[in-house]
Amino acid sequence: MTDYASLCAQLAALTDGIPYETANLANASALLWQEIPDINWAGFYKMEDGLLVLGPFQGKPACILIPVGKGVCGTAVAENRTQLVYNVHEFPGHIACDCASNSEIVVPIHKNGAIWGVLDIDSPSIGRFTQDDQTGLENFVRILEKTL
Ligand code: SME
Repeated sequence: MTDYASLCAQLAALTDGIPYETANLANASALLWQEIPDINWAGFYKMEDGLLVLGPFQGKPACILIPVGKGVCGTAVAENRTQLVYNVHEFPGHIACDCASNSEIVVPIHKNGAIWGVLDIDSPSIGRFTQDDQTGLENFVRILEKTL
């Protein structure tokens, strides 16, 4: 179990008064990586010219561009809602960056009412992410949105 209240408090403290987007996203991915057990990738994709572009992350090198509507990340943008994927191998069009990934959660991030990008976390365990993780990570993203 992840203590999301503590995770959110740590993010708020780390980003408080810091106006540098890359620095905040880099620290946010490091924090997720440090505090969430049983994951193999945690990071961000940012919308640029209609595509999701790889941002700060922890884990293995990942695909750089994802079109809206493609993969779990692009689906989160197209549907503008969190994707909680029990088994990525059963998700049509899933994009495999690290073959160790078996489950995934992707949370849309907003700025000024539009989609700014997504938070993406992968796990080697099937069914790793629960409704509690979804709620906790949506709260985490809400704090991050204030810094964008
Ligand atoms: N699996 C994602 C691609 C990004 S990697 O997991 C880091 C997807 O299907 O969109």
